[in-house]
Amino acid sequence: MNVASAELAAAARDAAACRRCPLWANATQTVFGEGAGRARIMLVGEQPGDQEDLAGRPFVGPAGKILDTALQEAGIDRALVYVTNAVKHFKFIPRGKRRIHQKPDTGEIAACKFWLDIEREQVNPRLTVLLGATAARAVLGRTVTIGRERGRPIPLGPTPAGGDALAFVTVHPSFLLRLPDEAAKRREYAAFVGDLRHAAGLL
Ligand code: URA
Repeated sequence: MNVASAELAAAARDAAACRRCPLWANATQTVFGEGAGRARIMLVGEQPGDQEDLAGRPFVGPAGKILDTALQEAGIDRALVYVTNAVKHFKFIPRGKRRIHQKPDTGEIAACKFWLDIEREQVNPRLTVLLGATAARAVLGRTVTIGRERGRPIPLGPTPAGGDALAFVTVHPSFLLRLPDEAAKRREYAAFVGDLRHAAGLL
């Protein structure tokens, strides 16, 4: 899956040299969004993880695998969506041979909104699915408690093509990976698929 419009391809090239916040210094590369250039659904995650940083593509690691399966179960073809992150460089601290994920701060989210805004304007999705609190902060511009706001449409205003754009908050797939027991994993995965199905039904 690759960037599908000339404008997005140009933005991705510019973002490759981004110095808007310090995260570029330790990351391997900028991980720009990819997918259908005029997708009706945009999925926004937090930031690339270890594998995404190395591959240069969003959601190709363990969280991406869960996301792919959940999208499939919810009847959403990943080839028809645009997938991106609120922050486009991997933030981590080295620990031995491992790189441990660090949450981006509000300054980093604000700096990277420059690129997310370009993606949102170009793709102009009817539905933007916000995977977790960082994505929700980036798009809604405020602190979001996932448990309180997940699973319902949030109006984003009119789209240039007419009709209203909607946001929809759900959990980040990495949350499912961190759950300690299998029963909780199964329950939360089913709720995640349910959210995605509900979101797709809003189109
Ligand atoms: N987590 C994210 O939020 N985005 C990715 O691309 C991978 C993991």
